[in-house]
Parts: sequence; C-alpha cells; structure tokens
Amino acid sequence: MQLWTVNLKKPDWQDAPEAPDVCAALTAGELVAVPTETVYGLAADATNGVACAKIFEAKGRPQFNPLISHVPSLEDARLHGRFDALALRLAEAFWPGPLTLVVPKTEGSPISDMATAGLMTVALRVPAGPVMRFLADRTGKPLAAPSANLSGRISPTRAQDVIDDLGEALSFVVDAGPCRVGIESTIVGIVDGSPRLLRPGGISREEIEDALGTSLLAAAPGMRPDAPAAPGMLASHYAPNASMVLNAREVTQDDALLSFGPERIQGAEHARMEFNLSPEGDLAEAAANLFQGMRTLDASMARTIRVQFIPSFGLGEAINDRLKRAAAPRP
Ligand code: TXA
Ligand code: MG
Repeated sequence: MQLWTVNLKKPDWQDAPEAPDVCAALTAGELVAVPTETVYGLAADATNGVACAKIFEAKGRPQFNPLISHVPSLEDARLHGRFDALALRLAEAFWPGPLTLVVPKTEGSPISDMATAGLMTVALRVPAGPVMRFLADRTGKPLAAPSANLSGRISPTRAQDVIDDLGEALSFVVDAGPCRVGIESTIVGIVDGSPRLLRPGGISREEIEDALGTSLLAAAPGMRPDAPAAPGMLASHYAPNASMVLNAREVTQDDALLSFGPERIQGAEHARMEFNLSPEGDLAEAAANLFQGMRTLDASMARTIRVQFIPSFGLGEAINDRLKRAAAPRP
C-alpha cells in the first residue's frame, strides 16, 4: 500500500507525482481509499465488475448491497441516471455536496451490475471533497465507493482509520486530512416521481424539504437494500467492540461516556473515559466528531459506551440513525 498525502490548501496538489499512479491503479481495477467531505471511500472503477467485486471482498460485505457511484459533475451524472425535475432541483441545490440521488439508470450507462447489484436504479453523488471528483474526472470513470471500513464497523473519517481497517487490500490511500462533515451522505430516491429519504446523512431533511417545497416520504418496502428484514429490527452497523447504550442518564466508572452539550449526567466525572461530541451542543460539530469519538472510546477497552441524549432535528436525525445501528443487537 502506498500513501499519497494531499495538501488541499496548495493550488497545485493535482500535479503531485503520485496523481498519475493513483489514476493508473484505478484504471487497472485496483482499490484506492479516497477522502470525501463525508467519510473516506473505498473506491474502484464502477464500470469494472471485477474491481467492484474486490470492494465487497475487502469490506467483507455479506450481501451485495449496491454501491454509490461518484462523478465529477451533474452533466456526468446524467449519462448514468435519469433526472426528473425534482431530482434536478436537488442536484442543483446540493451538488457538489453530501447528497446521493437514487434515480433510474440510463440504458447507455456503463456502470456495472456489480456496482448497482443488478437494480434498474443507480445511486449517484457529486462529492464536495475535491480528490474524489479529480480522480473521477482524470480517469474518466465513475468511481464506486462505499465507506472504507470493514462491513458493520465504524466508518473512517481519517486516513489512519482506513489503514487500520483495510490497509492490505489497497493499492493507495490518499490522505487529505479529517473529513469535514464526518457522517455519510443523505440518500434521496427519486424513482417514481416521489422523493423518498432512504438514509439520513450530511444534509438535513429540513434543508432538502425546503429545496423541494414538499415533504420527503419514507422509503417504500424493498427500496432500501440494506434495510432489516424484520420490522423493528435495526441492522447492526457502525459497531464498536464495546456495547452501546443510548439516552444514558447515568454512567459508572467502568463505562465510557459519549457526551453532548454542556449538561452533565450523573457520574460523568467518574467515567472511564469521556468524549464530548460538541461541548456547546452544535449538531454539525457532533456529526463531524461522531465516528472519531466512537473509535476513541472503544480504544479505552470499556465494555460499554453510554451515550447522552442527542436531539433528532437537523443533523441529529443522521447522528441518531448511526447510533441506533451501532447499539443494535450484533449478529
Ligand atoms: O457519504 C457517503 O455516502 C459515502 C462516501 C464514500 O461517498 N459512501 C457510502 O456508501 O456511505 P455505502 O456503500 O456505505 O452506502 C451506500 C448506501 C447503501 O445503504 C446502499 O444500500 C444504498 O446506498 N444504495 C446504493 N444504491 C442504491 C440503489 N440503487 N437503491 C437504493 N439504495 C441504494
Ligand atoms: Mg458504510
């Protein structure tokens, strides 16, 4: 595995000697970890079925859950997906940014069935993080990329997280520092004319509904390939080694504490370790710190991580979605 450290503040970062090698690795069907503004992605050429199969193998993804394809622009996205007026409005409002749109796949799209899991729809995203856009543009390939973690575990927001989890499977890791948003993109499906929230994420439901002028519907049955089979059973995901307890009101000296805001719960000062997601109670800051907080507390070897109440509006919806999955019964 080779490392390419990118300093995005330098205007000529794209001219680094590593850039052509990383593009060549992608074109040859190899796996490269690439940062985006949400999380680090495990990227491969989406048009190459064998390359996409390597993604599933490296992550140990149990079922062939479809992948998001990353493209440099809306214009490129329209080669692969059919955008109705509402989908166009969302793309124009939020791209580049932490929004993924699931739309009908065009007949001419070269995106492989391995990337879409054979569905008639395709998940497309123009990320704000410039490295993924640059690599998709320079290779001329849509880049399939799930989060670069082992299946079911905590998503990576720093290059070191990826190296710890997946180092051996990768040709390159591109390190551009910590991810600004810190949780995955919001996924909206617009397949049958109705916009549906398939996954809360880095753009809040409220912002999307404002742009649409209508409410988002819930995902229709069968629309979320990663949804739990039994109603009420959340699929375990984002799981640390420690067990997780949500909405904790007290904590003991054996537990780690994931806190939020200025309020102190009972026993907080005696916790084995504490990580405050945002001492001032800012949800965007909490989202950006969420996965790093979970990793840090997990490293304390506490058996249980207790999580303080976090409100569910704005980015709180996505934070609570991740926390509930992290706390769900493990397989
Ligand atoms: O922020 C993100 O979205 C990150 C970065 C790397 O872009 N990617 C990410 O990918 O979170 P992943 O694979 O962990 O999540 C992709 C989600 C899965 O839940 C999958 O079920 C859903 O997208 N998905 C992909 N294609 C779909 C489709 N055609 N219909 C419905 N859901 C789809
Ligand atoms: Mg993931």
